[in-house]
Amino acid sequence: MNTRRILVTSALPYANGPIHIGHLVEYIQTDIWVRFQKLRGHQCIYVCADDTHGTAIMIRARQEGRCESDLIAAMQAAHERDFAGFEIEFDHYGSTNSDENRELCQVFWQALRSADLIAQRSVDQLYDPMAETFLADRFVRGTCPKCGAANQPGDNCSKCGATYSPTDLVDPKSTLSGATPELRSAEHLFVRLEKLHDFLRQWVEESDALQPETANYLLGHFLKDPLRDWDVSRPQPYFGFEIPDAPGNYWYVWFDAPIGYVASTQQWCNRNGQDLADWWKSDATEIHHFIGKDITYFHTLFWPGMLKTAGFRLPTQVHIHGFLTVDGEKMAKSVGTLVTAETFLRHHDPAYLRYFYATKLTSRVEDIDLGLEEFADKVNSDLVGKVVNLASRTAKFAARTGLATEYPDDGGLFQQAADAGEEIAAAYEACDYARAMRKIMELADRANPYVEHAKPWLLNKDPAASQQLQDVCTVALNLFRQLAIYLAPVLPRLAQQCGDLLGSPIRAWDQSRIPVLGTAVAPFQHMLKRVKLEDLQKMIEETKAENAASPPSTTAAWEDSDEPLRAEPLAEEITIDDFAKVDLRVARVVAAEHVPEANKLLKLTLSLGGEERRQVFAGIKAAYEPEKLVGRLVVMVANLKPRQMRFGLSEGMVTAAGPGKTEVFLLGVDEGAKPGQRVH
Ligand code: MSP
Ligand code: ZN
Repeated sequence: MNTRRILVTSALPYANGPIHIGHLVEYIQTDIWVRFQKLRGHQCIYVCADDTHGTAIMIRARQEGRCESDLIAAMQAAHERDFAGFEIEFDHYGSTNSDENRELCQVFWQALRSADLIAQRSVDQLYDPMAETFLADRFVRGTCPKCGAANQPGDNCSKCGATYSPTDLVDPKSTLSGATPELRSAEHLFVRLEKLHDFLRQWVEESDALQPETANYLLGHFLKDPLRDWDVSRPQPYFGFEIPDAPGNYWYVWFDAPIGYVASTQQWCNRNGQDLADWWKSDATEIHHFIGKDITYFHTLFWPGMLKTAGFRLPTQVHIHGFLTVDGEKMAKSVGTLVTAETFLRHHDPAYLRYFYATKLTSRVEDIDLGLEEFADKVNSDLVGKVVNLASRTAKFAARTGLATEYPDDGGLFQQAADAGEEIAAAYEACDYARAMRKIMELADRANPYVEHAKPWLLNKDPAASQQLQDVCTVALNLFRQLAIYLAPVLPRLAQQCGDLLGSPIRAWDQSRIPVLGTAVAPFQHMLKRVKLEDLQKMIEETKAENAASPPSTTAAWEDSDEPLRAEPLAEEITIDDFAKVDLRVARVVAAEHVPEANKLLKLTLSLGGEERRQVFAGIKAAYEPEKLVGRLVVMVANLKPRQMRFGLSEGMVTAAGPGKTEVFLLGVDEGAKPGQRVH
């Protein structure tokens, strides 16, 4: 077999928020592919980095009262910890805020300049005089110039779908400070993408780098018209790299982010004595990007254009996946389904999610749904019931007998599974993990009846059947091992455990063709627990409490990006009557205590005057000592439907401002107001 040299990337996660299970679709998908390639004996490296620049980070750092480099260092540490928790193994994990990236940005920039692809012109942009910054489109809201809908984002209307620029908004407001932004004019630098139109069309049509639906989308939406110039600079203040030949201006985060792929590779090369050109300028190397559908445009038009101009090789494939929904709903903090990696790991084995996503992922750009019952069912009936079962029913006997020295007659099961190897490999190669998992479970479905029929637990009681017992265990454990090899890209820990059990580490795909014989079998160690539906529900419940309890941040930077093309949809417009439905009341905190099982919540007892008491769980533990709250007047939502939580009933909500965690500011009223009074 030819050894391929393969460079693989996942999108660089934004440094402005934690990793959640939506992101993990991508990092797990990529990690599986990389592990598969390595198992097949190819030279494959997986690089990634944190995406650290942009307005969102700058604003967040300001709000948290620290410098950007502290913030991004803390985020990166959290991201790396979460990825490690899910057994996502990078060969290198860098940061876009690195010297290597700055230098490479300059290389790309010079190439664009030399190719006469940079244009300059002045742009009228809204400027927030209070926050003293230009406003990215999504930080501006106002009335749609077309249909008059209020509170619409700066780039497109969620009511009528009109697209416009933020300066067209009627009555614009900065979401950072609430100030009315001023129109200021500044010089911006643009990439004249239209000059690359023919090249890009040809690449999209002919290169095989894109899934057919992606190619069609690009041809039908963008390439049929002239390509718009791409604004790649931002005036100060901006957290990023200053453009050397345009002082006071910075490269827009989406300019330096993809270059971060190259910079991270450069860092890997430096550590491993390799030459960057062998990885980014050689036809002998494949480059595979894994991304989500929301960032298609950047990776299939801008990025190839930049690579081409700067003399780097083009991606072999851009693998685009869809979005995760939870129980059929879009994940969002507002519905309380934004499960962070950290929360998931607190409740569950990461192997569950890796396997579940594998059963769902295909080579198409489709959204995938995490249904709790389906999740529990897949883990329990497939992994525990069909795979681990083979080992758990035989390993304890085999620990006594050891494995036979000759492979017994198994009716052709081992050979069949060995023969299935190439088909399963082809499914992995094509990113059709769903098909790979189906094929593997078909093998498991054949192996299990063998064990049921042979009844090793009965043979074990019959001293005359010890040879037969050894044979049955030898077959069952070798069939188990084949499954563990085929599942190794998805379940690295299971592969490790199987290797330990049989004294033969799993290192290569083709080990599935040769049985392990004559070895001692280690004492059986528990491999995977069944998942309980109620534990999944508990996790969602806790997430709901955390999401609901953490007050909305003023920038929404927590779950959003600096990218106007995909701002989260706005909350629906409401009338004054709608607002009047919310019964806000003055309340006095009469007791406050920690909730030992919840790491973000405090339990508050609120008085609404007289005997009326309410118990409320609030996500303010990091910001407030409970003792300091007692006696304070706060503003609560008094008519919120009570919610049964694991810790007790929550009968309302207290209101607060701030981005969350330690930065939470409870809304209060002046002393003199009476508990129970309504807030208008
Ligand atoms: N920083 C940019 C990428 C720059 S690449 C040069 C970015 N970051 S992100 O943190 O918002 O998203 C990282 C990846 O996770 C993206 O590919 C995105 O599509 C993916 N996902 C984020 N939320 C997701 C779901 N809910 N479901 C599936 N994938 C999702 O974009
Ligand atoms: Zn409109």
